[in-house]
Amino acid sequence: MKKRIALIAGDGIGPEVTQQAVKVLEAVAERFGYAFDFQPALLGAVAIEKTGNPLPPETIEICRHADAVLFGAIGDPKYDNNPSATVRPEQGLLGLRKALGLFANIRPILSYPALGHLVPLKPALLQGVDFVVYRELTGGIYFGEKETSADGQTARDVCSYSVAEISRIAHLAFKAAQNRRKKLTLVDKANVLETSRLWRKTVQAIATEYPDVTVEYLYVDNAAMQIISQPAQFDVLLTENLFGDVLSDEASVLSGSLGLLPSASVGEQTALFEPIHGSYPQATGKDIANPLGSILSAALLLEHLGANSAAEAVREAVAWTLANGFVAKDIEPINYYGTQAIGDMVAGQITKGAASAYQVLNASTII
Ligand code: IPM
Ligand code: MN
Repeated sequence: MKKRIALIAGDGIGPEVTQQAVKVLEAVAERFGYAFDFQPALLGAVAIEKTGNPLPPETIEICRHADAVLFGAIGDPKYDNNPSATVRPEQGLLGLRKALGLFANIRPILSYPALGHLVPLKPALLQGVDFVVYRELTGGIYFGEKETSADGQTARDVCSYSVAEISRIAHLAFKAAQNRRKKLTLVDKANVLETSRLWRKTVQAIATEYPDVTVEYLYVDNAAMQIISQPAQFDVLLTENLFGDVLSDEASVLSGSLGLLPSASVGEQTALFEPIHGSYPQATGKDIANPLGSILSAALLLEHLGANSAAEAVREAVAWTLANGFVAKDIEPINYYGTQAIGDMVAGQITKGAASAYQVLNASTII
């Protein structure tokens, strides 16, 4: 297999975590005889600095001609603290999602028993947590009309959805549920919002095409509570853009840390893979960021390219580091391992193959 991968490191910790994912993909290439051609591209604050544009047209071209996009993170405090800035790094990512038609953002949420004692929630609550968030990504309030009045006293963001926009992601979510535990939960605010009522009506109609899938409906406030009180009930959670953004960060607590969660954005053109965490400026360049969100995004990328055994090898190597306590500072603030060291361990496990993984495991147990 020979594939071209657009590499968008982005801002903050983006470059250092993406570097670990590249290291891991290179290890995969070595072990499985693949070849990856990485093509760097600019996006976000770094792109504004170099070109004045958060999404240079060249970046879109590189992505369109790639088999997949691996993306790091976006955002810079310089813009966060300046609400009057008209050019913002986030416009780059939102623009790229729109340009590539990436309407579905898929965020798997798993609990890792090895981290039980380090997770802020009760371990008993986390048993059997395995669900996936299908977040709509190119519609809703993120992309509606935006306006601040001339006198600066009022502002508005319009939330709008069409049946077509809802249907295309709903079908993907129903199909995913058919291949999982056959349950889909639509999260909305249909007791208040017109757009949510359209989501509910559309999903109710589509549900008749998937009679083997049980459908439940939850208001978003109730869902926010149930995600941390009864998380094992969820299988596929389908929701609109803003609710999905908020709920998936909340759900990351179930896995142990936001730093662990990968995501895949799929749609009309080249799919994009990114950790769900942000640019974490306070950690930039300190070798303390958790690279696993990016490394697990590389696993999703491999799966998307049909390299299922390679994806599994990456996940096994990641699980091995977690099981042996080789965790980053977000999970273990005192005895932690660096970004690069964790990247090296995951890559090392992959190149050595499963057999020698046990040798390393034994060695570390003796120590
Ligand atoms: C995410 C991020 C983005 C979003 C930001 C950086 C625009 O939080 O990917 O979840 O809100 O979608
Ligand atoms: Mn987010």
